Amino acid sequence: MSSKDQLRFIVQPGGALKGELRVAGDKSISHRSVMLGSLAEGTTQISGFLEGEDSLATLNAFRSMGVSIEGPAEGRVTVHGVGLHGLKAPAEPLDLGNSGTSMRLLSGLLAGQSFDCELIGDSSLMSRPMRRVTEPLISMGAGISATEAGTAPLKISGGRTLQSIHYDMPVASAQVKSCLLLAGLYADGQTCVREPAPTRDHTERMLTGMGYPVTRAGDLACVEGGGTLGATTIDVPGDISSAAFFLVGASIAPGSDLLLRHVGINPTRTGVIEILKRMGADIEITNRREVGGEPVADLRVRAAELKGIDIPVEQVPLAIDEFPALFVAAACAHGRTILTGAEELRVKESDRIQVMADGLQALGVDASPTPDGMVIQGGSINGGRVDSRGDHRIAMSFAMAALRADGVVEIDDCANVNTSFPGFVELAAGVGLGVEAN
Ligand code: S3P
Repeated sequence: MSSKDQLRFIVQPGGALKGELRVAGDKSISHRSVMLGSLAEGTTQISGFLEGEDSLATLNAFRSMGVSIEGPAEGRVTVHGVGLHGLKAPAEPLDLGNSGTSMRLLSGLLAGQSFDCELIGDSSLMSRPMRRVTEPLISMGAGISATEAGTAPLKISGGRTLQSIHYDMPVASAQVKSCLLLAGLYADGQTCVREPAPTRDHTERMLTGMGYPVTRAGDLACVEGGGTLGATTIDVPGDISSAAFFLVGASIAPGSDLLLRHVGINPTRTGVIEILKRMGADIEITNRREVGGEPVADLRVRAAELKGIDIPVEQVPLAIDEFPALFVAAACAHGRTILTGAEELRVKESDRIQVMADGLQALGVDASPTPDGMVIQGGSINGGRVDSRGDHRIAMSFAMAALRADGVVEIDDCANVNTSFPGFVELAAGVGLGVEAN
C-alpha cells in the first residue's frame, strides 16, 4: 500500500447495489457518548460506537484527561465517568486530527475546567473557522484564544468562572450550539442558544437521557449550570450520513435494491431522504423504533429515475453533510438541480463546493459552483480521475458516481474515509460496487 496521502480508490464502472447492510455508527452521537459519558457519575456502556478516526480522537482526548475507557471492541465502549469536575490536565496538546466536532465541542467543555490546555489538529482542521466558538465563549468569560486568522491552535486557560449567556447563533451550527450548551453546564445561571434554523439535536437528547434538564422551546435550547449527569447505556444507531452514499448509489444504479438496517432517522438529520424523494427516489422507511431517545429505522432503496430540483433552502442544515452525495445524484438526474444557501459547505473538511465542482467537471459533468451552492445539469458521467482533497465524504461520493460512469473512476487521497466510515470499501464491494483501494 502507498502512503496515507496516496491511498486511491479505483472503481469499475456500472453495476447495481443489492442485498443488505448496516453502515458504521453515527459519528455525531459517538462523539457525544464519550464526552457526556466521561462527565457522568458512574459507568456508561456504549454499543455501536463508530471506530473511526474522528470519534477515536475524542476518546483518546478523554483518556489523556484521566478518564478510564475500555474498548472499543466491536463497537462496545465502557466509560468510567469522572463527574463534571473530575477531568485532569492533559500532559500534551490534545490532537483532534480531522475532527471539527471534537474541537468545537471540546472548546466549550474545556472552557469550564480548572486547568489549561491546547487543541490542535491536522492541516484541514487547523484552517477551519473557530471564531464562531471562541467569540461567544469569551463573552461567557472563558479564557480562550485562536490565531489571528481565527483558527486553531486553540489555547484555553482554565480556572475561570463562566457566566451564562443568551446567544443568537449567526450560523445554523450544531457544533456551536453544543459547544455553548456544554460550557453552560459550568456557567452560573441559565445559558440559552437560539438557532436560525433547526440543527442536529443529539446533545440536547443525550443530556436529557442522562438526567440533565434541557429546556427546549421552538428555536431555543437552554441549560442551567451546576447539575450532574447520570451514567447510562447508549446504543449508537447507524449514521444516516454514511447511509447517504448507499441511498444515492442504489437510486442511480439501475437494478439496485438495497436494505440499510438500523439507521438513525432523527428529524434534524433526514434532509437527504426528503431531498432524494423530491428528486423521485424510491426510499421506504420501515421498522421505525426509538433506541435510547433517538429514532431509528430500516431504509429500503430501489433504483429510480431521478429529476433535477431546486433544493429547498430550509432543508440545507438538515442535509449539511450529504451534499457531496446529493451532487452525484443531481449529476444523474434529468434536468437541472440548483442548490443555494449552503455557503457553510465551503468551510467543511474541504471546500465542498469547489472540490465537488472540480471533480464533477473532471468526469464531464456540467457543474457550476456558486458562492453558496451549485448548479448541476444532469447527464452522463465519464470515467476519469478526481482528487478528493482528503475529504472523506467526497471520496465516497465519487466512488458511487462510478455506478453510472462509462469508464473507470480513480479517486485520489482517500485515507480520510477512515475518519467516518472504516470498512466502507469492503461493505460497498459486498453489495456490488466495483471498488478497491490501493
Ligand atoms: C456536527 C455538526 C455539523 C456537521 C458535522 C457534525 C455535529 O457541523 O457538519 O459533520 O456533530 O454537531 P456544523 O454544526 O458546523 O454545521
